[in-house]
Amino acid sequence: MAKMEVKTSLLDNMIGVGDMVLLEPLTEETVINNLKKRFDHNEIYTYIGSVVISVNPYRSLPIYSPEKVEDYRNRNFYELSPHIFALSDEAYRSLRDQDKDQCILITGESGAGKTEASKLVMSYVAAVCGKGAEVNQVKEQLLQSNPVLEAFGNAKTVRNDNSSRFGKYMDIEFDFKGDPLGGVISNYLLEKSRVVKQPRGERNFHVFYQLLSGASEELLNKLKLERDFSRYNYLSLDSAKVNGVDDAANFRTVRNAMQIVGFMDHEVESVLEVVAAVLKLGNIEFKPESRVNGLDESKIKDKNELKEICELTGIDQSVLERAFSFRTVEAKQEKVSTTLNVAQAYYARDALAKNLYSRLFSWLVNRINESIKAQTKVRKKVMGVLDIYGFEIFEDNSFEQFIINYCNEKLQQIFIELTLKEEQEEYIREGIEWTHIEYFNNAIICDLIENNTNGILAMLDEECLRPGTVTDDTFLEKLNQVCATHQHFESRMSKCSRFLNDTSLPHSCFRIQHYAGKVLYQVEGFVDKNNDLLYRDLSQAMWKAGHALIKSLFPEGNPAKINLKRPPTAGSQFKASVATLMKNLQTKNPNYIRCIKPNDKKAAHIFSEGLVCHQVRYLGLLENVRVRRAGYAFRQAYEPCLERYKMLCKQTWPHWKGPARAGVEVLFNELEIPVEEYSFGRSKIFIRNPRTLFKLEDLRKQRLEDLATLIQKIYRGWKCRTHFLLMRKSQIVIAAWYRRYAQQKRYRQIKSSTLVIQSYIRGWKARKILRELKHQKRCEEAATTIAAYWHGTQVRREYRKFFRANAGKKIYEFTLQRIVQKYFLEMKNKVPSLSPIDKNWPSRPYLFLDSTHKELKRIFHLWRCKKYRDQFTDQQKLIYEEKLEASELFKDKKALYPSSVGQPFQGPYLEINKNPKYKKLKDAIEEKIIIAEVVNKINRANGKSTSRIFLLTNNNLLLADQKSGQIKSEVPLVDVTKVSMSSQNDGFFAVHLKEGSEAASKGDFLFSSDHLIEMATKLYRTTLSQTKQKLNIEISDEFLVQFRQDKVCVKFIQGNQKNGSVPTCKRKNNRLLEVAVP
Ligand SMILES: Nc1ncnc2c1ncn2[C@@H]1O[C@H](COP(=O)(O)OP(=O)(O)OP(=O)(O)O)[C@@H](O)[C@H]1O
Ligand SMILES: [Mg+2]
Repeated sequence: MAKMEVKTSLLDNMIGVGDMVLLEPLTEETVINNLKKRFDHNEIYTYIGSVVISVNPYRSLPIYSPEKVEDYRNRNFYELSPHIFALSDEAYRSLRDQDKDQCILITGESGAGKTEASKLVMSYVAAVCGKGAEVNQVKEQLLQSNPVLEAFGNAKTVRNDNSSRFGKYMDIEFDFKGDPLGGVISNYLLEKSRVVKQPRGERNFHVFYQLLSGASEELLNKLKLERDFSRYNYLSLDSAKVNGVDDAANFRTVRNAMQIVGFMDHEVESVLEVVAAVLKLGNIEFKPESRVNGLDESKIKDKNELKEICELTGIDQSVLERAFSFRTVEAKQEKVSTTLNVAQAYYARDALAKNLYSRLFSWLVNRINESIKAQTKVRKKVMGVLDIYGFEIFEDNSFEQFIINYCNEKLQQIFIELTLKEEQEEYIREGIEWTHIEYFNNAIICDLIENNTNGILAMLDEECLRPGTVTDDTFLEKLNQVCATHQHFESRMSKCSRFLNDTSLPHSCFRIQHYAGKVLYQVEGFVDKNNDLLYRDLSQAMWKAGHALIKSLFPEGNPAKINLKRPPTAGSQFKASVATLMKNLQTKNPNYIRCIKPNDKKAAHIFSEGLVCHQVRYLGLLENVRVRRAGYAFRQAYEPCLERYKMLCKQTWPHWKGPARAGVEVLFNELEIPVEEYSFGRSKIFIRNPRTLFKLEDLRKQRLEDLATLIQKIYRGWKCRTHFLLMRKSQIVIAAWYRRYAQQKRYRQIKSSTLVIQSYIRGWKARKILRELKHQKRCEEAATTIAAYWHGTQVRREYRKFFRANAGKKIYEFTLQRIVQKYFLEMKNKVPSLSPIDKNWPSRPYLFLDSTHKELKRIFHLWRCKKYRDQFTDQQKLIYEEKLEASELFKDKKALYPSSVGQPFQGPYLEINKNPKYKKLKDAIEEKIIIAEVVNKINRANGKSTSRIFLLTNNNLLLADQKSGQIKSEVPLVDVTKVSMSSQNDGFFAVHLKEGSEAASKGDFLFSSDHLIEMATKLYRTTLSQTKQKLNIEISDEFLVQFRQDKVCVKFIQGNQKNGSVPTCKRKNNRLLEVAVP
C-alpha cells in the first residue's frame, strides 16, 4: 500500500514559535522568552528563516534516533519541527539534487555545542547517503576521524570539558549520486601553548590523560611512562579528572578509531612515542652553573629523563643535551654559538615540546587525509563542515584567544554578508521591492585586526621582524600609537585619553570590542608566540633522531636544506589560511547553525537569560529576524502554500486546476486578506505580517476540524463498505470452496459406492459365470466319467468271462444250481399225499436249503389245501364257513367245542316236512328253516326240563311243542339280545330277550342241547345277516337270567357224578339255579 502522505508543517503543535520570523511582537525579550520556552520543552532548535539556532541542552535528548533520521529524510525544511537534521537534509539534498556545493557554518562561543552539532550533521548525512560496503567504509573512516582529532586537539577548559583547541574545516566529497567518496580536513592553528602550561582548572590535551589511564602496563613500560599523572610537570594536577569522562575507555575508542581510519600499528606506536616524549620533556629540569666568563650556563639536573627520551626517540643524548645548553646563530656564513641560561633552556625545552606536539597534530591530520582522500578523480560535489573553536573570553587572554576570536569575527562577518546578500538576492529574484535594514556590521573589527597596513596582526609582524630589541611592550606601544582612535580598540596608554583612568584596563593589556563582547588581552607572549621560534639546534637534533616520525616532523633541521629566511609568523599564517577559508566558504551555499550556550555551569535545564541575551545580541539574532522580515515575514512557494490553505476556499478545494499562483490569488481574494499584507513574487507568495499567517493558520485549524469530521465520516463509510465487501468476497470464496469441498466429498462417496456396487455385481456375475463354467465342466467330466464307466462295464462285462477270478464263483453257482436242480427233482418224487392233514414232509437234504425247504413245505401245504378246497360244493362251502365261524366263536373258550368239530352241522335235524305230525307247524312257517331240533327247555321254576322243538328261521326264533307241533313262543330275532353259556362241557345255554319286548314277558329262555355249538353259531350268523348286529355270546360259568320279574343266577358247578354223565339242573332258591356238570 502506498504510504499515506501526511502533510505536516512546523506550524503544527508548535511550542512558542518554531520560526522566530513569525514572532510577534519582535523584541529582544520575546526572542529570549521564545528560546527559553522552547528550551524548557526540550525544543533546543529554533529557526530564523533557514538559520538553525541550537541551544546546548547539556544532556542527551532522544531526538537523534534512527527513526528521527527517517522522519526528516526527504522532508521539506518547514514540514517538521525545527531540527538540525532538517538543515542537514536540506543541505544534502540541494547538494545532491541541485548540484550546489554546500557549507555548514557552525558558530557560537566555546561550549555552545558546535562540535556536537558538526558530528550530528555528519552522522545524519552518513545515515541518509548511499549504502554499500565501499561507501560504508568511507563513511566509517570519515566519522572515526573525529575521536582521533578530538583526543589530540581537544581539552578541558573552564568553558567546556571537551573544548576544541583547533579549528577544523572538513570537506566531505560526494559523487553525482550523492554517495560519499572521501574527505579533506583542514586544521587551523592548534592552541599549542596548552602543551606546556594550562590555566587553572583546565587540562592538557585529552590524549595525555587517555594514554596514562588507558595504556596497558606493557605499553607504559615500553613508552617509559608511569601511570601517575603527578609525575609529569606538563600535566596540571588540579583537574586531572573530568566528571563523566572515562579516559581509559576513550583511549580504547581512539585506538580503535585510528585502526578504522587506517593507521598502521607501527604508526600508532610512533605517535604514542612522540606523545610520551613530549610528556617526558616536561620533566627535564635545569640548574644554573657558573662559567668562567661569569655567565650562567644551564645544566640538566637529572639526566635520567633525558636518557629515556633519547632512547624513545633514537636521538643521540649528547646532541640533545647540547641543544638544551647552546644556541647557534648563523649570520652571514658565520656561526656563533652562545650558551643558554636556565630560563632560555626552559624556553627551549617548552618550545620543543610545543612544536613536537603541534607538528604531530598536523601530521595526524595529514595522515587522516591520506586515508580518507577520495580515490577517484571524478568531479566531486562538496559539503564543508566548519567547526572552529568558539569565541572565548578568559581571565587571561593571550595570543591564542586573540587568534580564536579573530577567526570568530571573520565568521560573523561572513554570516552577515551571506545572509543579507542571500536575502537581498531573493527579493530581487522574486521581483519584490526591498528596503535596507540597519544592523551591526563587524567588518570594522575585522579591519582592526587584519588590515594589511595598520591592523594589529600586521603590526605584530612588523615588530617581530624589526631589528633591535623587540618586546611585547614595544608592540603594545605601537598599538597604542596606531590604533588609538579606533572605536573598538581600547588601551590605557593609547593616545586617546578616554581610557586613561579606566582601572579595569591594566597597563600591559589592550582591549578589543569584539562583536561578541569586549576582550582584554595580555600583551605578554604575543611576540614570542607570533614568532613561534624553535632554536635551530633543537630542530637539527630532532632531525637527527632515529625515530622516523620525529625526523619527518622537522624537515628544516636538515643541514642540507638550511633556509636563512624567516618562516612566516603564526599570525600571518593564520590570517592567510582564514582568508582562504573565507574565500572557499563564499563559493558555497551556506547553511548556518548558531549555537547558544544556555548557562556557564555546563548544566542541563538551566537557562540563564542574561547569558543568552548577551549571545542573542552579539550573534545579531534580532537583526537577523528583522532582516528576514524586512519586507515580508513569511514566504512560501505557491504550491505548498496552496496545498496548505486550499481548504479555506471553495474554488480551490479539493483540487485547483490551473497554475498554483492563480489558485493562491483566488484564495487570498476569497479570504479578503488586505492587499498590502501580501505580495506575489515569481515563485513565492510573500506575507508581510506574521499575524496574517496566524490568521490563516487559525482558519485552517477550524476548517481542518470540519474536514476531519467529514473525512472521518467518509472514512468510516469507506471502511465499513470495504469491510463489508471483503466479508462478502470472503463469504463467496468460502462458500465456493465449501461447495467444492462438499461436492468433491459427495462425488467421492458416490464413486466409492459405485465401485462397491460395481465390484459386487461384477463379483456376482463372475461367480455366476464361474458356477456355470464349473457346472459345464463337471457335466463334461461326468459324461466322460459315465462313458468311461460304461465302457469299462461294457468291456468288463465282455471280458469278465475271461477273468479267472470269476471261475470259482461260476463253479460255485453251477454247483449250487446242480444241487438245487437235483433237490427239486428229488423233491418231485418225495412229495407226500395231498391230504391237508398229512404231516409228513421229507427231510432236508442240505442245511443251506433249510428256508427253501420250509417255504416249499408251506407252499405245498397251501397248494394242497387249495386243491382240497377246490373240490367243495357251495353246500359244503357253507358248512365249512359255519364250522369256521364256530371255531372262531368257541375254540378254546368252551370245553364242549372240540367234540362238535367232527359232527356235521345238519340244521334241520327234525324233518318237519316229512313228519305229518308237524303239518300244521310246517304250514305256520313260511320262511326257510335254518334249525329244527328238539331241545330241553329248562323250567324256570324248578329246573326241570321239557322238550321243545327249536326252530330258527331267517327272522324268528320259534318254540313248538314236540308232540303237537304247536308253536309255543315266537321271538323275532331283533328281540334276542344275548346268548349265555358256560365254558364247560355241557349243553346249557340261555337266550336273553330284549327287555320290554313282547316275548320277554315270560322272561329269558334257558335251554340244553346236544348241538349247542351249531345252534349258537347259526343263531349268531342269522342274527348278523338279518339285523346286521353281532349277537353277544357270553361264555361264563355264572350268569344272570331274567325269569319273569326276577333275575336268577345260573351257576355251573363241576364234579357232580350222581346223574352219570348227564348234567343236572336244580333250582336252589329263587335267585340261584345250579347246574352240575360232570
Ligand atoms: N545537542 C547536544 N545534545 C546533548 N549535549 C550537547 C549537545 N550539544 C552540546 N552538548 C554538550 O555540550 C558540551 C559542549 O559541546 P561542544 O564541545 O560541541 O561545544 P563547542 O561549541 O564545540 O565548544 P568549543 O568551542 O569549546 O569547542 C558537549 O561536550 C556536550 O556535553
Ligand atoms: Mg568544539
